[in-house]
Amino acid sequence: MKITLNPARSAGTINKNIFGHFSEHLGRCIYQGMFVGKDSTIPNKNGMRTDVVEALKNIQVPVLRWPGGCFADEYHWEDGIGAQEARKRMVNTNWGGVVEDNSFGTHEFLELCEQIGCEPYINANVGSGTVREMAEWVEYLNSEGDSTVVKKRWANGRKDPWGVKFWGVGNESWGCGGNMRVEYYADEYRRYQTYCRNYGKNKLFRIACGPSGDDYNWTEVLMKRAAPYMDALTLHHYTVCGDNFDDKRAATGFTTEEYYRTLNHSIFMEELVTRHSQIMDRYDPGKKVALIVDEWGNWFNVEPGTNPGFLYQQNTMRDAMVAAINLNVFMAHCDRVCMANIAQTVNVLQSVILTEGDKMILTPTYHVFDLYKAHQNARQVDCFVETEEVGEGKFTVPQVIASASEKDGRITLTIANMAMDKEAEVAIDGVCLCKVQGRILQGEAGQYNDFDNSPLALKKFTGIEGGKVKLPACCVVELTIG
Ligand code: AHR
Repeated sequence: MKITLNPARSAGTINKNIFGHFSEHLGRCIYQGMFVGKDSTIPNKNGMRTDVVEALKNIQVPVLRWPGGCFADEYHWEDGIGAQEARKRMVNTNWGGVVEDNSFGTHEFLELCEQIGCEPYINANVGSGTVREMAEWVEYLNSEGDSTVVKKRWANGRKDPWGVKFWGVGNESWGCGGNMRVEYYADEYRRYQTYCRNYGKNKLFRIACGPSGDDYNWTEVLMKRAAPYMDALTLHHYTVCGDNFDDKRAATGFTTEEYYRTLNHSIFMEELVTRHSQIMDRYDPGKKVALIVDEWGNWFNVEPGTNPGFLYQQNTMRDAMVAAINLNVFMAHCDRVCMANIAQTVNVLQSVILTEGDKMILTPTYHVFDLYKAHQNARQVDCFVETEEVGEGKFTVPQVIASASEKDGRITLTIANMAMDKEAEVAIDGVCLCKVQGRILQGEAGQYNDFDNSPLALKKFTGIEGGKVKLPACCVVELTIG
């Protein structure tokens, strides 16, 4: 097997936001996972868990999407500002029917982003909100003038505007966000975004709700009717193990066939991004409108005994492989994909962190984000992989996948060996492996970290011999060359 790098060829700069995250008011993602409140015995700064914030800083989370998800289209921002005791208590109808006390609202989210050092991406409510409500949220966040709305912000302790840039107009408007037809949504999008104003020097990056998976008609109609009014449109696609969305299967204890069928399904992201981009190319050959994959990842059954509405699942080396597959796709398409947000940061779906009380573990997916962080804002480098296929039955995948980039005179090459039980010897062509360092995440496909035992962590990679690398089965490796 061989990987040929051609540093002269590049698809462009890999936007750091491709390595973004998503956090919804769902289960224990925000509450307990990231926000515990100032009075908690869990170490925190202004209510944000110190351990989680530090871990997220380490992988250089560039952008965080909030407050949903489906929750976004039932969220009314004014319920989440002002004195805590006066905040409205609502039922979170989408996720477990639990009472949401709105103790984590606009100010808390922006404080969290400041602590992590990432950009906020707010997804606003079209489904059950009003144009005025959305417009005033933007004013509250970004205006300096002494309007009644801004004075409320001052009274709530924030003098300076935050300058929020990434602005989503509705979430899954074809489903939980209002069950709209694309023709109707396109008009609603045009109307809502009209009143989301730019204040001062801050220019909103307007994000329209794009398709679910392979709904190419949604992209076609939305581009035709609304492309000049948007900076980006979104794509949501989750990987499930079974044959359809209702056949999700367990996150752990899977068979060999289930391992390969999950990986095989995940590779569908390449086709999705390619085909949606082709449609966008017809309406926008200059690539002014970006594609944002703001929900992606594995969706398995919840862990036995947990609330089905909380979407809590374990995370194995299979998840690490799926993360590598998807990140590679986004990087290869960096000329169109400007952001992606894995679902969801903590305790929900394919999380990078799991918590239980004051304990925290880093999942294999977390370590993949660590291995890939050097690609952030780097120049993508053409990387041609000649590989065998592995798999079971019709569920095959390339044994080796890779991506490369260049920054500050160094090349970063990330490689995954997706075989469950086969080493891979790979020749590296096009660059000299004279000065090279490596890190590796390796384990059995079904292995995971839990609260008693966390065997999966990054180690120094030593399998470099001459111009070749020897990859153990089921691993992800980062090589820093030069
Ligand atoms: O991430 C969980 C849910 O999946 C989100 O709320 C929704 O947008 C999607 O259907």
